[in-house]
Amino acid sequence: MSKIATLEIDGKKYEFPLIEGTENEVAIDIKTLRGVTGGVTTIDPGYKNTGSCESAITFLNGEEGILRYRGYSIEELAEKADFLEVAYLLIFGELPTKEQLEKFHVDIKAQSHVDEDVKKILDGFPKSAHPMGVLSSLTSALVAFNPSSVNVDSEEEMYNAIVRIMAKFPVLTAWAYRKRAGLPLDYGDDSLGYVENFVKMMFKKPSSDYQSNQVVVDALDKLLILHGDHEQNCSTSTVRIVGSSHAGIFVSISAGINALWGPLHGGANQAVIEMLEAIKEDGSDTKKFMSKAKDKDDPFRLMGFGHRVYKNFDPRAKIIKVAADEVLDSLGIDDPVLDIAKGLEKEALEDPYFVDRKLYPNVDFYSGIIYRAMGIPVEMFTPMFALGRLPGWIAQWKEMRLRKEPIGRPRQVYVGETLREFKDISKR
Ligand code: SDX
Repeated sequence: MSKIATLEIDGKKYEFPLIEGTENEVAIDIKTLRGVTGGVTTIDPGYKNTGSCESAITFLNGEEGILRYRGYSIEELAEKADFLEVAYLLIFGELPTKEQLEKFHVDIKAQSHVDEDVKKILDGFPKSAHPMGVLSSLTSALVAFNPSSVNVDSEEEMYNAIVRIMAKFPVLTAWAYRKRAGLPLDYGDDSLGYVENFVKMMFKKPSSDYQSNQVVVDALDKLLILHGDHEQNCSTSTVRIVGSSHAGIFVSISAGINALWGPLHGGANQAVIEMLEAIKEDGSDTKKFMSKAKDKDDPFRLMGFGHRVYKNFDPRAKIIKVAADEVLDSLGIDDPVLDIAKGLEKEALEDPYFVDRKLYPNVDFYSGIIYRAMGIPVEMFTPMFALGRLPGWIAQWKEMRLRKEPIGRPRQVYVGETLREFKDISKR
């Protein structure tokens, strides 16, 4: 492979270095473009062809449906690791030893208290508030109670901020649910595992002892692993660009939560279930909805289908589809929307519109069916995505800051009015 790319503009040639990653991805390094060409830049709405950084955290191959965290395949991690182990891997770059993992968990548990005054902020929200809005607000508010987590210039300050957000985010997520459900805000139990403790904080009823359901804990642990990181997706790019101004990690993650909320991104898991329910209510006529999805004049899209990077199966969707059958079977639940989902998938995979556009089920297509089977309400589906993505956001933010990346500030091509003189209001 040549090491340079040549660009010709008005008969003049410019050379730019080609960089190649460890998985043979090639990019044109255009850092000098504007300077050497006297102002020429590039434009790429949605950054479909533009890399924002070099990263060593997650590798995706959309054509082959490959997803790896720090070199380990998602299939192996989902099968053999637990979520806190994968969080450590994403954030610190290596699978932890038993001692490292235990210390990480001990340090997290030591920080799991959330200042009681945060509850006063939560009280200000109506019960009807969407948990994603509550979660992004409370995550931002954490800065007021943890000011040392803003300027994390030393390795120790960075570590302390990381264990703080890993500790407090599950509490805030459970509180957002319990506020909406009218339940007292509960703390966990330090004797439990990270995910088991979260499930207890979510579902413990005030008047009865909590009985852990291992099927639910194991299924959620696997789902959180599958959502752990996904390179430069919309919400992660948001976390990185906010952090690039040297804003703190909590507010950068709060910005990521808001980006994830959108139905084209993490909000799709809620939109999928709402779509499947609508199809069921409408008589389960999947062909009618497939036609709507293909109709350019109809804003309806097949939620949970398609992906910016995966032009083959989303490997996470494959794993979640199998898990959906296992979890519903273990819990003795027969959910008709699972059959509707499978029917839609089968039809789409045989339909030229979807096949030609390489539209396959993505991570959000089946995940909501499992969340619902666990008793998680639909408005809490995207907060579950955020809980899983937290270590990825942390890892990407940490990498951006340690690599001292410049502040993110894209250019544009101006297409507005050229210079014109002010006109007094009497003459307009
Ligand atoms: C996530 O980036 C990540 O990694 C994200 C994520 C992560 O882990 O962080 O994987 C999580 O966000 C998964 C995606 C969840 N969103 C949805 O399920 C919403 C439905 N999907 C689409 O809105 C869409 O597929 C996107 C947003 C996911 C991707 O959009 P792109 O890459 O901008 O593709 P596009 O909109 O340009 O679509 C290309 C064509 C268009 O048709 P044409 O103009 O070529 O005729 O495919 C069509 C689109 O209309 N199309 C769909 C469709 N998705 C794309 N048509 C019907 N239904 C769909 N779902």
